[in-house]
Amino acid sequence: MKRAYFVTGTDTNVGKTWATLALMTHFKQQNLSVLGMKPVASGCKKVGIKWKNDDALAIQENGSFVVDYKIINPFAYEAPISPHLAGKENPANFDTILANFQTLQNLADVVIVEGAGGWYAPLNEMETIANLAKKLNLPIILVVSIKLGCINHALLTVEAIKNAGLNCVGWLAVCNDTKFDCVDLTIESLKERLEIPLLAIFPYSTEAKRDNVFISEIV
Ligand SMILES: Nc1ncnc2c1ncn2[C@@H]1O[C@H](COP(=O)(O)OP(=O)(O)OP(=O)(O)O)[C@@H](O)[C@H]1O
Ligand SMILES: [Mg+2]
Repeated sequence: MKRAYFVTGTDTNVGKTWATLALMTHFKQQNLSVLGMKPVASGCKKVGIKWKNDDALAIQENGSFVVDYKIINPFAYEAPISPHLAGKENPANFDTILANFQTLQNLADVVIVEGAGGWYAPLNEMETIANLAKKLNLPIILVVSIKLGCINHALLTVEAIKNAGLNCVGWLAVCNDTKFDCVDLTIESLKERLEIPLLAIFPYSTEAKRDNVFISEIV
């Protein structure tokens, strides 16, 4: 059976790509074919004549098959600012994203889609990540960077996902803030308050150790 998940986060820079790459490896280790997608990306560099984004390149690299960059990241914007501002000339079009997603889903057993920013990040003048997740109609995985303020952001995001009528199947704790010294108690506080399973805790580590982290089965 085909599976797909939409990875969102409590904010930008919280570990969505880190988690997306780890999830891709997790499914590959189960002998499933996996592809990823970063449909809208701000902050791109010129590779040849095309704008490309580091997250999307890493997701392309980590896939089970080689897939054209344009399928994985149809909307690549130069400026590292909100997509609705960076993409004024070429606003994100959800029909294109859905068609590309279906192409990937036809190719692989599992597709992981990384959002941009947080749940209400605007992707164009009218629509947000929440609207895109609803259009794709995927189960959601929430990435929480363990830092001061994350409990509020996590609770707000889970409530907003529920209000959108989507299923948040679990959350991932990413410990990427070295200045924060209350990691364990904060994770415990989140476990007590979030009514969804904690799928994995990613300690502060090198990329090489990312794939050693155990991820619980998603149900
Ligand atoms: N477990 C970890 N240990 C150390 N560094 C980490 C860890 N997880 C993430 N990072 C670092 O934290 C930063 C943010 O992570 P990442 O790029 O995955 O966030 P993001 O939510 O995908 O950001 P964006 O909104 O730009 O897509 C990166 O520099 C990444 O290398
Ligand atoms: Mg990212």
